[in-house]
Amino acid sequence: MSTANFTEKEINPLQSIEQWEDDVLVRYPEEGKPSKTKEEYRNYDSPERDTVREFYRLNHKYQTYDFVQQKREDFLQFNRKKLRVWDAMEFLNTLVDDSDPDTDLDQLQHLLQTAEAIRADGHPDWFVLTGFIHDMGKVLCLFGEPQWAVVGDTFPVGCAHSDKIVYPEFFEANPDNKDERYNTKYGVYEHGCGLNNVHMSWGHDEYLYQIVKDYMPEPSLYMIRYHSFYAQHRENAYDYLLDDHDREMFEWVKKFNPYDLYSKVPTPPNAKELRPYYEDLIAKYLPEEVCL
Ligand SMILES: [Fe+2]
Ligand SMILES: [Fe+2]
Repeated sequence: MSTANFTEKEINPLQSIEQWEDDVLVRYPEEGKPSKTKEEYRNYDSPERDTVREFYRLNHKYQTYDFVQQKREDFLQFNRKKLRVWDAMEFLNTLVDDSDPDTDLDQLQHLLQTAEAIRADGHPDWFVLTGFIHDMGKVLCLFGEPQWAVVGDTFPVGCAHSDKIVYPEFFEANPDNKDERYNTKYGVYEHGCGLNNVHMSWGHDEYLYQIVKDYMPEPSLYMIRYHSFYAQHRENAYDYLLDDHDREMFEWVKKFNPYDLYSKVPTPPNAKELRPYYEDLIAKYLPEEVCL
């Protein structure tokens, strides 16, 4: 299945990929902060909600075990672009959609806010750098990839879909749902086999993990690789696939998530002023250029 078979509406169901994150924030509001309840959210009658629903319908229908293998074969060749990390962020920033009035923050600002919040809490520098790069994999969108194959909650493929994943009813249309190899609780996996042996739905998390896996400390790699795996880090829906090491490392994934979701501040960070600090951090951990 190549992207060429999809219509423009199927490739870009969202006005901008930030709509997915806005939606996650409604689903997982910050504790103690007033927000719409889950019920209100489900019944919320708005074009935006319909857009997000459509996004998940496509995501859940097309993210099959085979789809993931195809994307891995294609993108893990890293033969598209070679860029300095900061330049990759600026490349990512060309994604900004001016037609979306709700988008008050560009990608670089989201990354800087996340990283600055981590830094303000006195965490180690590799944790700060993780905040800064965690969404770099979204450059997939700039290679013409469908939004539902770049962002969205991630989940294991090759085994039954948990009903703790958002909009579980849409998995009904996923061909793996009728495939005996993939539709049992364990599918192609074994109890406690460890997430390193589990294929996740394809998106910006796994893609960036593959780009930086030789360079960042292990807790950082877990944060990068599983930050959109809400069904696990928020709902513990796949405990039976995790091994003890995953459980230990998921403490870091859980620690990271609030910075990703709740670090928006009224004054956007000054990218120009912050750049030297982040360039130093990049130079300390990452190669001069990364292959995308
Ligand atoms: Fe992300
Ligand atoms: Fe993010």
